[in-house]
Amino acid sequence: MSKVDGTYIKELQKLQKINRYQDISEVEKEAKKDYIDRHSAFVHCDNSAKKGEKFKVKVQVGDAYLHPDDFDHYIAWVQLWNGENMLAESTFTAGALGGAPSQVEVDFHIVPTRKMKLTAMAFCTKHGLWQSDEVVVEVS
Ligand SMILES: [Fe+2]
Repeated sequence: MSKVDGTYIKELQKLQKINRYQDISEVEKEAKKDYIDRHSAFVHCDNSAKKGEKFKVKVQVGDAYLHPDDFDHYIAWVQLWNGENMLAESTFTAGALGGAPSQVEVDFHIVPTRKMKLTAMAFCTKHGLWQSDEVVVEVS
């Protein structure tokens, strides 16, 4: 059996932890605002939808700040969740955004059947999992 380095374990744990969105207007340090914002997933959609009809949900990673798109540091995927159920997922490879800082954006088109509580999850290859605030969508 091989020994696993303690630093390696700490890095793994950091990637597996869920970071939840924090309002950056309540954060003082500029570097921390940037760090939180550029990793946070945001769900953009209407608050009501028609049952059985296609409904567009945009997920964007970062609002005021940009995230790197480097070969060893990029947003690898975003997922759209309804409560505890994953609805959809989109994956990216490094360089998909031109290798320059940017904001990952994905438009999901789903067909709702009942009220939804949508959240998005984003994964940075260096800084782990980031979960959006919840958006409730009434369906009629
Ligand atoms: Fe990152």
